[in-house]
Amino acid sequence: MARIVCKYSLFIIWLVLILQYSLSTCAHSKKLYENKPCKRFVLYYHDILFNGTNIANATSAATTNYTSLGNFKHGMLVVFDDPMTKDNHLLSTPVARAQGFYFYDMKTTYNAWFSYTLIFNSTEHKGTLNIMGADMMSEETRDLSVVGGTGDFFMARGIATFRTDVAQDDYYFRLEMDIKLLNENKPCKRFTLYYHDILFNGTNVANATSATAVNRTKLGDFKLGMLVVFDDPMTIDNHLLSPPVARAQGFYFYDMKTTYNAWFSYTLIFNSTEHKGTINIMGADMMDEETRDLSVVGGTGDFFMTRGIATFRTDTFQGADYFRVQMDIKLYECY
Ligand SMILES: *[C@@H]1O[C@H](CO)[C@@H](O)[C@H](O)[C@H]1NC(C)=O
Ligand SMILES: *[C@@H]1O[C@H](CO)[C@@H](O)[C@H](O)[C@H]1NC(C)=O
Ligand SMILES: *[C@@H]1O[C@H](CO)[C@@H](O)[C@H](O)[C@H]1NC(C)=O
Ligand SMILES: *[C@@H]1O[C@H](CO)[C@@H](O)[C@H](O)[C@H]1NC(C)=O
Ligand SMILES: *[C@@H]1O[C@H](CO)[C@@H](O)[C@H](O)[C@H]1NC(C)=O
Ligand SMILES: *[C@@H]1O[C@H](CO)[C@@H](O)[C@H](O)[C@H]1NC(C)=O
Ligand SMILES: *[C@@H]1O[C@H](CO)[C@@H](O)[C@H](O)[C@H]1NC(C)=O
Ligand SMILES: *[C@@H]1O[C@H](CO)[C@@H](O)[C@H](O)[C@H]1NC(C)=O
Repeated sequence: MARIVCKYSLFIIWLVLILQYSLSTCAHSKKLYENKPCKRFVLYYHDILFNGTNIANATSAATTNYTSLGNFKHGMLVVFDDPMTKDNHLLSTPVARAQGFYFYDMKTTYNAWFSYTLIFNSTEHKGTLNIMGADMMSEETRDLSVVGGTGDFFMARGIATFRTDVAQDDYYFRLEMDIKLLNENKPCKRFTLYYHDILFNGTNVANATSATAVNRTKLGDFKLGMLVVFDDPMTIDNHLLSPPVARAQGFYFYDMKTTYNAWFSYTLIFNSTEHKGTINIMGADMMDEETRDLSVVGGTGDFFMTRGIATFRTDTFQGADYFRVQMDIKLYECY
């Protein structure tokens, strides 16, 4: 008897373990998105000012002398082509160049204003980052704006935090630049959801999730002018009956006389323990194309101020009453 009970309880433990395992893998596969950190790296900027004798080493030169306003070089403009290194050694191999200018702009203390480009031209990175802003040198750290980029840093935006690493006499200073890109060319959040639209046809009241609010016009044979208002379920997989993780509320209308083309404007509404907030999406759905990109123009709550792209792909089309669209949502700005 004891043996049987023992066998039985072993079976229960095994069952519990299996159940736990399948629950955890299930929870994992149901994860809505991966929150990837945006790009961050530290580089050192070395500025050797030309003083009339250091031609071999100088990397920058004053193009205007300072004015006599105050004692802090007010008005002095320096043009530079400086090496950027990964550590704080001047003679380390540069990983980029910094080209641009700064000038001193305060009469009561040292303060500079920078505008420059980091130029990457290695096997690791090709492209540029454009940075501008005030360098309030008396602060321990100062934040400047990364306002744009090209190549590997296409359309980058972010912050470059300056910290003075060393200031040797008048001719050499070194800045640590901690560069944080908030929108790399990879999305900071990405997830795929399925949109299910069941059009009301007069009899399917129980199941319909959308209805024609304005009938088509007679211009062409592709429903031009037909306006549909929807409150559709969004699911993680392509099963209509899976529990929705969000609702899509908004409208589309057909707008082309020679083929099916629609124009969407809608909100994804998240109201679960996992996510609260909204994502607003708008754009043209050129239904003949395999995939179509619409714009994510804003968000609230967990998706505060987001922007990005929603890529549509028609997953299925069943007569006039049901269609399903895969929406691959890539957010490039996350806060
Ligand atoms: C110019 O700077 C170099 C270091 O870059 C220094 O060795 C030299 O003494 C400086 N010359 C003058 C005239 O200040
Ligand atoms: C200046 O350059 C020369 C050779 O180009 C080098 O020997 C010297 O160490 C450099 N000085 C500084 C301060 O970097
Ligand atoms: C720059 O200006 C200062 C004072 O206004 C003067 O002493 C110095 O000689 C000037 N330097 C040059 C290179 O013109
Ligand atoms: C980048 O590097 C390549 C190979 O070293 C060189 O041919 C090219 O001129 C460089 N481009 C720039 C913009 O520095
Ligand atoms: C309405 O749509 C439902 C499916 O949602 C379908 O079963 C039914 O036949 C349709 N009725 C008409 C009149 O088209
Ligand atoms: C419509 O809803 C009923 C019950 O609400 C369900 O049994 C049926 O499968 C649904 N039809 C479709 C096409 O989803
Ligand atoms: C919508 O318009 C079409 C063509 O103009 C017409 O055949 C149809 O009956 C209209 N439907 C409704 C519900 O008014
Ligand atoms: C969100 O869910 C909560 C709890 O289920 C509910 O009380 C609330 O009304 C919902 N809000 C919206 C906007 O759907």
